[in-house]
Amino acid sequence: FNVIASDAMAMLQVTNEYVELMDKEMVIVTDKKVVIKNLDGELMSRASYIAELDASDIEKGTYPHYMLKEIDEQPLVMRKIIQTYQEENGKLSIPGDIANAVAEADRVYIIACGTSYHAGLVGKQFIETWAKVPAEVHVASEFSYNMPLLSEKPLFIFISQSGETADSRAVLVQVKKLGHKALTLTNVPGSTLSREADYTLLLNAGPEIAVASTKAYTAQIAVLAILAAVTAESRGKELDFDLVKELGIIGNAMEALCDQKDEMEMIAREYLTVTRNAFFIGRGLDYFVCLEGSLKLKEISYIQAEGFAGGELKHGTIALIEDGTPVIALATQEHVNLSIRGNVKEVTARGANPCVISLKGLEEADDRFVLPEVHPELAPLVSVIPLQLISYYAALHRGCDVDKPRNLAKSVTVE
Ligand code: M6R
Repeated sequence: FNVIASDAMAMLQVTNEYVELMDKEMVIVTDKKVVIKNLDGELMSRASYIAELDASDIEKGTYPHYMLKEIDEQPLVMRKIIQTYQEENGKLSIPGDIANAVAEADRVYIIACGTSYHAGLVGKQFIETWAKVPAEVHVASEFSYNMPLLSEKPLFIFISQSGETADSRAVLVQVKKLGHKALTLTNVPGSTLSREADYTLLLNAGPEIAVASTKAYTAQIAVLAILAAVTAESRGKELDFDLVKELGIIGNAMEALCDQKDEMEMIAREYLTVTRNAFFIGRGLDYFVCLEGSLKLKEISYIQAEGFAGGELKHGTIALIEDGTPVIALATQEHVNLSIRGNVKEVTARGANPCVISLKGLEEADDRFVLPEVHPELAPLVSVIPLQLISYYAALHRGCDVDKPRNLAKSVTVE
């Protein structure tokens, strides 16, 4: 038989042979043949391809949910990414044309949606602080209708786990028409955003099935770090630490965190079982992770959750703090540690139930959880893991469908 599917993964149990359809094509499918025509009725000939996906990669194994499995896979994904982008001499490398494209750009525009957008916020920091290339991050659906004034030699970086997100693709189509170069960071080789961009960097995170993105987020940050570090080197601005070594330490820290699920379940029970809302606060890189933590919690547990920059609280949001409101605060950045601690005191004085997650070395007596020591600029790779696990357990305790939350799809292929 022949069958139509929106994603190769969906039919992997029955076949690994696929034929791609392009925009504005029609297809007539019978049990014996597949006929593709364009809108003028002309026959289109297209060879099939073999999907290089292993059916075992998309099985849940002994896990109750894909999300939990994918959270646990993160240490392995870190190691795979290091291996993929490391040369025999131990140095990190990416294809020369990609490093040149970033190094030669006068400004990088990062375009993404949802979790990928949150990874982009962290990536912008790496590209600016390490490679010294100015960078902006944009939500794709906004960029496409409200394009800012572009620089003279821009490079567009599209971040998309699926490589199929319609909002991001709309921007890609626009910028290609303008003649600009585009690089896609994706988990899916051969996806639309990969095919249509000039360059692709793969995340190598393995198929992500749960709607809530977890391992793709950390993979995106790691690949962006490698991209920024290699670009920095090509611009003669070497990092003052060994990224390969630090990513290795991250992998071990992730493993240690994944081994503390009981503790995460306890935190979820303590803070999120009966509440109707929750706040995540942080400053700098921690703020970006708070945005991701709050998205994770709201999309699978349906608790109204907001991520805030600590300093913005007093400009309005603090009015929402009531007796018992859970406020999860991240404290992994030394230069803003005192300030975020001040914000925690402010919300506590107004009745909040604070849950401080700090980095080893910055911890204080009442902190609820202390993260293993890692390089602070890479802290988002580990501080997100408790937030992913807490969200998972909060959703579980509330009887939600963790892997398939209501109203959501894994690949958002419509505007
Ligand atoms: O496949 P993409 O990375 O382009 O998807 C973007 C968003 O739809 C996605 O990250 C979404 O926000 C996740 N479900 C969040 O967990």
